[in-house]
Amino acid sequence: MELANRLDKLPPYLFLEISRKIQAKRAEGADVVSFGIGDPDIPTPEHIVGELKRTAGDPPNHRYPESDGLPELRAAIAGWYQRRFGLSFDTGKEVLPLIGAKEGIGHMALCLLDPGDVALVPDPGYPVYGVGTMFAGAKSYTMPLREENGWRPDLSAIPSDIARKAKVMWLNYPNNPTGGLATEELFREAVDFAKTYNVAICHDAAYSEVTFDGYVAPSFMQTPGAMDVGIEFHSLSKTYNMTGWRIGMAVGNATLIDALLRVKSNLDSGIPQAVQYMGIQALEQTTDEWMAANNDVYRRRRDRMVEVLSGMGLSITAPKAGLYVWARCPAGWTSAALATELLEKHAVVVTPGRGYGEYGEGYIRLSLTTPDDRVEEGLRRLEGSRLGAPPA
Ligand SMILES: Cc1ncc(COP(=O)(O)O)c(C=O)c1O
Repeated sequence: MELANRLDKLPPYLFLEISRKIQAKRAEGADVVSFGIGDPDIPTPEHIVGELKRTAGDPPNHRYPESDGLPELRAAIAGWYQRRFGLSFDTGKEVLPLIGAKEGIGHMALCLLDPGDVALVPDPGYPVYGVGTMFAGAKSYTMPLREENGWRPDLSAIPSDIARKAKVMWLNYPNNPTGGLATEELFREAVDFAKTYNVAICHDAAYSEVTFDGYVAPSFMQTPGAMDVGIEFHSLSKTYNMTGWRIGMAVGNATLIDALLRVKSNLDSGIPQAVQYMGIQALEQTTDEWMAANNDVYRRRRDRMVEVLSGMGLSITAPKAGLYVWARCPAGWTSAALATELLEKHAVVVTPGRGYGEYGEGYIRLSLTTPDDRVEEGLRRLEGSRLGAPPA
């Protein structure tokens, strides 16, 4: 049996590797504290789970869902965007429920890229932008995200021959893994770039609601001209602690939404209908108080983590959004060496920044989704230890 060549091009799935290391360490008897994957430890709110219980027994919900979701869900998504960002979308043409943002991002590449085309991909970045590009037979052109530039790409540095070949630019703010934030200027430049070079802008806003210190994240779709060139992906995963239920959405340009629906409907059969009802509850009935309390849990963990890691000699800007602390390793340490050191000496798991691309080298990422007592246990082990010279 011979597998397709594209499988050889897949990078090893980062979190699979990490979970193997954790298992090996646990097999040695270690009590491992993991700050690895960003997967909320706090349960889905009761009013949302209750809706699943209410709808699960209803036979129409046992059948194939429509690929484009229930009209009530599309209306709930549009209503949420209206309340949150003051934006109006046509629920028939400009809104599409997804089986999580990841599904939409992966499929979007198939809508936009032919073999030989170019996708503009941020680095460090969420790996699916590059993997989707590779599955479509296209090439990723790296847009470096640098600390000194607020983790935003310099669009003027993209050579014009690359820009002319490019079909899509991926942006993600608030950014995973860096915690970088968008500016109005970046979004405006992206729209100008898209119009000049005929490139689609795909903005991934999966973390727009996980914010701290009064920060309010914008939507790319608020940018003048964005509807002509772009689409925004959003997820209920992080906003409502719903990673396990698999539900997200895309809104924006009708041609892009239609293309995504055409690809999706040939490859998947939509979100289980009872989960769609959960999504409606989440979007329509979750209170601001619940959101604030949920984010406050992450904010407290962030503050503790920043305090302890800074004391160890790592350099950190406390993120105003997202589920991660992104910390610069002390001079001489690679991200893998530091991750190995923390695992070996303290049984604490962090993600090496190199796993998010070459420009992630020199950083480690810690997720804020570990329960409070485990955060304290992990930090207690690290507190007071100062990193010396890296291993030779
Ligand atoms: C930047 C980014 N986009 C999208 C996703 C996936 O979200 P979903 O659970 O909706 O598929 C993640 C998950 O970690 C992410 O970090």
